[in-house]
Amino acid sequence: MSHRLAETIYLTGAGRGIGRATALALAARGYRLGLIDRDAEGLREVAERLDSSGCHHAVRCADVTDLASVRAATAELDSKVGPPDVLVACAGVGGLTLLPDLQPEALRTMLDVNVVGVAHAIDAVLPGMIARKRGHLVGISSVAGYRGMPWMAAYSASKAALTTYLEGLRPALKRRGVTITTVYPGFVRTAMTEGTPFRRPIRMMEPEQAAAYLVRAIERRPRDAVFPFGTALGMGFLRRMPGRVYDWMMDRAGPEALTVEF
Ligand SMILES: NC(=O)c1ccc[n+]([C@@H]2O[C@H](COP(=O)([O-])OP(=O)(O)OC[C@H]3O[C@@H](n4cnc5c(N)ncnc54)[C@H](OP(=O)(O)O)[C@@H]3O)[C@@H](O)[C@H]2O)c1
Repeated sequence: MSHRLAETIYLTGAGRGIGRATALALAARGYRLGLIDRDAEGLREVAERLDSSGCHHAVRCADVTDLASVRAATAELDSKVGPPDVLVACAGVGGLTLLPDLQPEALRTMLDVNVVGVAHAIDAVLPGMIARKRGHLVGISSVAGYRGMPWMAAYSASKAALTTYLEGLRPALKRRGVTITTVYPGFVRTAMTEGTPFRRPIRMMEPEQAAAYLVRAIERRPRDAVFPFGTALGMGFLRRMPGRVYDWMMDRAGPEALTVEF
């Protein structure tokens, strides 16, 4: 077995969606897995699939917004599958921001899970990685964090915060042997996007396609991974657009996006 295949990977948000598809794809490639999610039923289903695949794995329920619970989970995974070479922080929540009710509580939840939750997961594995002088942290941001998306202002803000948080951590961790990859998926067909009242059908990746890109990012360790290519191109253009031009576009295109008022 090659060194690469001997690696142990921890994933949060592994019970559903992109995290689950990535766990299954990694299992097929021979990695040892430690899986965390708050959804016990989702985790149980993934564990059953992994049992039959012969993958060395352990699962543990934890809420990433609770640091003690994440630490207890990683300690248990450590004892069962060994310390992680890679952490994929995939647990996240989404949602629309609609006027006139801004639902500030939804913003708080998104910041709590999508930013603080990722910090908790990193915090739980980081001392070990620094002691071993090696490790790879993979944070799942989003192209929605490139700019403020008019119908998902809170989600955009949470992903922008995550992106800059990881960017800020990067140099100090690099000096200690730990690499950070920030991942920016386009739309993926999961529970998070299901039911979004888009006015027109939106092309979305299947979770398995997103997982294939993620596996590549885990193995190649780029600074940033943006996918699919068309989204990377279009959103890259939008990201660099002057503020006033972006506002002009969103004034027109924004209300065309959804069937509901925002
Ligand atoms: N889908 C997309 O289009 C898309 C695009 C770009 C980026 N992303 C990002 O990709 C990641 C995965 O999204 P997804 O589409 O796969 O979503 P998903 O299908 O809703 O899966 C997210 C998983 O994370 C779990 N989770 C949520 N909050 C948690 C918490 N506090 N503690 C532990 N686990 C928690 C969820 O559990 P519950 O089922 O209990 O909520 C669920 O199992 C997220 O970070 C998301 O922001 C998604």
